[in-house]
Amino acid sequence: MIHIAPSILAADFADFASAVRLLAEAGADFVHCDVMDGVFVPNLSFGMSTVRDLHRRTSLPLDVHLMITEPGRYVEAFAESGARILTVHAEACVHLHRTLQQIRACGCLAGVALNPATGPEVLDYILDDADLILCMSVNPGFGGQKFIPSTLDKLRRVREKIAACGREILLEVDGGVTPDNCRAIIAAGADVLVAGSAVFRADDPAAVVAALRG
Ligand code: DX5
Ligand code: ZN
Repeated sequence: MIHIAPSILAADFADFASAVRLLAEAGADFVHCDVMDGVFVPNLSFGMSTVRDLHRRTSLPLDVHLMITEPGRYVEAFAESGARILTVHAEACVHLHRTLQQIRACGCLAGVALNPATGPEVLDYILDDADLILCMSVNPGFGGQKFIPSTLDKLRRVREKIAACGREILLEVDGGVTPDNCRAIIAAGADVLVAGSAVFRADDPAAVVAALRG
């Protein structure tokens, strides 16, 4: 089953309430929340107060993507704010195994994100502690970038690792996803598709959400 997780990074930052209403009406499965600290990535977005208020405004599960250094410092705060999935970058965690356990202990699903230059072998000793793997298909920090084609090979390799481990782990792809490339992405093994610009810049967001399912 394919899940669509539109990113509100592409929405009007002064009107997230309308954005999450639109996503519910459009049939989205998750609301993807891109948290940026201006250090791990060269951009700032929003933090846990925004996640908390989004949680009050929508019943859609919040898929929180932390693009921040030392994310372990904020795991409890984001969990209390209503995150359902909490994803940290492997590159941002000195103690990734510990951080994943911390996320699960807070009752959230634990996600690991990999930058485009990070190989799938970093997952080898933490797959049992993860509920979701996020492959970045652009360099994190900004919406509206072009999909990096080598991500397809990485998705296939991560999907093989997931199959070999025998547990159900979601495989998410994030960046430059459109109705034109979604079939290749799904064929490579992704089952959660993040899309910001493609959904929020569309005249008919519901049609795009439907089209992204392949
Ligand atoms: C990039 C973010 C993505 C991004 C997706 O740092 O993690 O979620 O907003 O936006 P599009 O679909 O516009 O590439
Ligand atoms: Zn994201």
